[in-house]
Amino acid sequence: MLKKLLVCSFLCAHASSVYAMQEEFIDPTRITKVPCQTQNKKGMNFNDLGPFEQEFLRYCRELEISESPEVGNILFLGEAYGRLPMRVGSEIASGLSKLFVNELSAENLQHLAKKLGIMKESGVIAGAQLADRMNLIIGDCLDLPNNEKFTRSFGNHIVDNCFDAIMCSNVLHFFDGEQVLKFFCNAFNFLKPGGEAYIFTQSREDDVSEKEMYTRRQNKTSVYIKTCFGVMEAAKKDPSILFPGLINEEWLCKTQLLNNILLGKPNGLCTFNYIPATTLQRFAHQLGFEVASKKFYSIVQEGDSIKTSEDNKGIYCGLILRKPEGYTGGHVTMETLDPAFVESCLTAKEKMKTFIDTKLNFLDQYPFVKSKE
Ligand SMILES: C[S@@+](CC[C@H](N)C(=O)[O-])C[C@H]1O[C@@H](n2cnc3c(N)ncnc32)[C@H](O)[C@@H]1O
Repeated sequence: MLKKLLVCSFLCAHASSVYAMQEEFIDPTRITKVPCQTQNKKGMNFNDLGPFEQEFLRYCRELEISESPEVGNILFLGEAYGRLPMRVGSEIASGLSKLFVNELSAENLQHLAKKLGIMKESGVIAGAQLADRMNLIIGDCLDLPNNEKFTRSFGNHIVDNCFDAIMCSNVLHFFDGEQVLKFFCNAFNFLKPGGEAYIFTQSREDDVSEKEMYTRRQNKTSVYIKTCFGVMEAAKKDPSILFPGLINEEWLCKTQLLNNILLGKPNGLCTFNYIPATTLQRFAHQLGFEVASKKFYSIVQEGDSIKTSEDNKGIYCGLILRKPEGYTGGHVTMETLDPAFVESCLTAKEKMKTFIDTKLNFLDQYPFVKSKE
């Protein structure tokens, strides 16, 4: 029987021997655990490529067969163990693209570094060539323009207009409003005109109903899920709130029951951002991206694998954003964008906290959250 999962906590580096493995080696080409939790407990790497990643793979193949000598830089942001770059690199074995793989946690990326080290030492030419094409960049993806290891690969250390493709999957939901804004500015600047950003994140066209969410996670955390959805449902009615799904779990510690649930969470309290598709679309518009595609997906567990499938009722959005061909508008910053939009991103956290504190009552029994009169 299919068991629907809400995967991730709800609305939840070049190869080198400097990476000492302390724990069990996770081979990025053979991830078998379901779910395969990241070492820093920020979500997981799935063991199957879903349709959105397959689409990205096709796009990368097109890049490889392009006759243009200019084509060839692919950037992965928040890649955990590097499962997707390994697929892109090994499926396009004759490829010449350079693959830049970013990840916040050195603990996660050391597994890819170890794999590339093994490939180099194996004496198999294709493996060694692929390892040479990979550049591993540890650090905050939002800080890449200042990351020396990253920028030194480019002339004058300027990373603008350098990438044909960017992939960022299951990372945006860790960001608050200001971080999401930085992310979109970076992605736009990094892309060459005509280049595409593939963004996959928890989202929904019309927001998911509490009922649907409840059926997805009918277990002991349903109180928590219902509370989050109560908060989001109320916040989305306020048009001044751009991120109604931005919640810091500390803000929810309002009742004994929620305290018990939240303070017992194994991964500790975190911030998550369940970004409505309309908000994602507003970012695309503000930055000047063309929306090449927008589809919804759901994630289910089937036996030993996690399958992603296209589903209009799914709670994940896969967006393909293109920087217009012939774009000559220069570097985008917060200062070049609409000040009102920027303000609503910068104040998103504060706004949501104030909204929760002043507009909602938290009840210790069903329905958990109620708008104040
Ligand atoms: C849920 S995993 C997703 C991994 C992979 N992208 C995928 O879809 O299978 C999220 C990853 O994003 C990383 N991450 C979170 N914030 C980040 C940041 N600011 N910069 C770079 N990586 C980040 C986490 O360390 C974690 O490995």
